[in-house]
Amino acid sequence: MVTVNEKEKVFHLNNGRISYLFYVMESGQLGHLYFGKALNPEGNYLHMVEKAHRPMSVCIREGDLYTSYEHLRQEYPCYGTSDYRYPALEIQGSDGSRICKPEYQGYEVIKGKKPLEGLPATYVEREEEAETLEIYLKDALRGLEVVLSYTIFRDVDGIARSARFANRGQEGFFINRVMSMSVDLPDADFQSVQLSGSWSRERYVKVRDLDPGITAVSSMRGNSSHQHNPFLALKRKNATEQSGQVYGFSLVYSGNFLAQAEVDNYQVLRVMLGINPFGFQWKLEPGESFVAPEAVMVYSEEGLNGMSRQFHRLYRNRLARGYWRDKERPVLINNWEATQFAYVEDDLVTFATKAKECGVELFVLDDGWFGARNNDKCGLGDWKANRDKLPGGIEGLSAKIEALGMKFGLWFEPEMVNKDSDFFRSHPDYIIETPGRSASHGRNQFVLDFTRKEVVDAIYGQMHDLLSNAKISYIKWDMNRSISECYSTAYPADRQGEIFHRYILGVYDLHERLIREFPELLIESCSSGGGRFDAGMLYYAPQGWVSDDSDAIERAKIQYGTSLVYPLSCMGAHVSACPNEQVGRTTPIITRGNVAFTGAFGYELDLNKLSEAEIGMVKEQIQFYKENRSLIAKGDFYRLLSPFEGNFAAWEIADEKGSRALVTVTRILSEINGPFRRLPLRGLRRDQKYHVESRYLSYDAYGDELMQFGMMMEDKSCGQVIDGSGGCQDFLSILYEVTSI
Ligand code: DGJ
Repeated sequence: MVTVNEKEKVFHLNNGRISYLFYVMESGQLGHLYFGKALNPEGNYLHMVEKAHRPMSVCIREGDLYTSYEHLRQEYPCYGTSDYRYPALEIQGSDGSRICKPEYQGYEVIKGKKPLEGLPATYVEREEEAETLEIYLKDALRGLEVVLSYTIFRDVDGIARSARFANRGQEGFFINRVMSMSVDLPDADFQSVQLSGSWSRERYVKVRDLDPGITAVSSMRGNSSHQHNPFLALKRKNATEQSGQVYGFSLVYSGNFLAQAEVDNYQVLRVMLGINPFGFQWKLEPGESFVAPEAVMVYSEEGLNGMSRQFHRLYRNRLARGYWRDKERPVLINNWEATQFAYVEDDLVTFATKAKECGVELFVLDDGWFGARNNDKCGLGDWKANRDKLPGGIEGLSAKIEALGMKFGLWFEPEMVNKDSDFFRSHPDYIIETPGRSASHGRNQFVLDFTRKEVVDAIYGQMHDLLSNAKISYIKWDMNRSISECYSTAYPADRQGEIFHRYILGVYDLHERLIREFPELLIESCSSGGGRFDAGMLYYAPQGWVSDDSDAIERAKIQYGTSLVYPLSCMGAHVSACPNEQVGRTTPIITRGNVAFTGAFGYELDLNKLSEAEIGMVKEQIQFYKENRSLIAKGDFYRLLSPFEGNFAAWEIADEKGSRALVTVTRILSEINGPFRRLPLRGLRRDQKYHVESRYLSYDAYGDELMQFGMMMEDKSCGQVIDGSGGCQDFLSILYEVTSI
């Protein structure tokens, strides 16, 4: 998969579907050649280097007016030597100079893929699944060694990149800016696609035209954030969901990030992704090294859907890992929206008993079970059961739940502390705060200094005791505020720029220790809903709570946007009560179920409060999900109609062979006397006959008809419903089963 033209020093990564090419310039810097659909591995591609005498440009060799890094497409641009676009790397020596110029030293091709020490990353299970090219560079003046790593996957149209840095010199220096990837595309005729929003409306799809200058999204909150996701796509203006060229870039990281597209004065497009340089500075003493997080680049000629399917395949199978990766996820019920903090053990057992009767497999006890926690002002940090609420402790409650025939799960917020807690009273110095300044709170809580091993150890110890003594099969790992006044008293002044990154390394370390000790534990990540829903967390937690907004119509948008990058297997999605807690909307329970099916399914309400008819539906939903969860988790996902563009959200999940598909169509507002509609499906076999079945419709058709003419939609708003058969109301969702016969 990796071809090296030794003579011309051209490197070609090619898996038969995509190619990525770069070369070594005469000066020793790396130049970018091509990223896109596969090119012939035998080809010679150096003529792709475009050079001209550009007046006013600064050139690197005396007497040569053609060679300027400003105009040559770079592979891993470094600051200070005639390239005036943003660099991937900037270092600062003890003499104050911020110039660096790592030059090519050699390369190695490795079968498979190495892990990234202390960081989440994609992986392979067998060497033949991927090949890795490592490029060695050196800045002799500083003694800086750089290793750029490129892994091309056999079965995914993507490349994973990362970079390692070592100081082999005599003096320390700072890394001020380090991107995990950079690529200079030869033209800028693209639109950027980002996933942006806020608490309870995370990952809305935003499309922008690229103009000269910078288009960027970032986080400086300490978590990847509700506001922007560590992802950026570039689509050709005529690319759609199903067709056209799209590049996708995703960072496997959960902290501060920057995703940036820069269009220069000659329409060259530089894309980069990495740790946000704002607030970042890492000191590298002689002998020390630093590893940048992994970035994944995907190329698709099948539009945004094609890009998503590549990300899904890679992230579901080779980023998520461990016991739960391929296992069917349990149908769960979570008590948060039903009870908030107000419950005692008996209520919970009654709550769980009803859930068991309906077929729920896992009961999750959310916030409020520990310390003096009866509201959000106290208790965080004291991970011991509140005996007033739970006389038998977590041991007793979990045993009762298991006796009902269900598994038991528990909420934690390991990174946080309330000042009103025994933990804080014993360790007031354990929080992130800047000496001499007051510390801001978020939801009355403070952030523990996870850069310090003794802090992580103290939390690990408490969690370990509970997990060892009680029957806990699942934890929901929450994180309900961003970091402010970022500073650690454990580090000297010249290492304060490391704290945000060290914090995330501490979070990863705690996850890793728990997974090693309790390999069968299912972890669901959460951060006030979807504030840290990123590829980094997916390495530790195979599912994540998508958003605190559980309204089905809002969720249709949020899950639609989330699906651009993340597979359905990792999207925690629950049916909640109506009127909905967040938006006050009342939606049919069918709609709530249909939308929540598109993920790791569960309930977030008190089933004892539902009518008999509703309980009947809940039982049906659970039965349906159990029968279809393998298809939902592993099938190919197709977005068909965007809720960001019209009155419908529609998507399809088809198995790999095209023998069965589930199609969900959610109409937001009802219409009267509207048009007849058909919905062209995807991923079916043209010459295969299928049976289409839904609540209101049943017919047979061949795959070609279903994909070309489209599946008939029995939308009762075409005309007026006069037979009392229903099917015409706001927020109605219909699920179609398409099965080969
Ligand atoms: C925020 C989460 O997103 C909710 O689901 C819930 O767990 C609360 N925190 C509990 O405090």
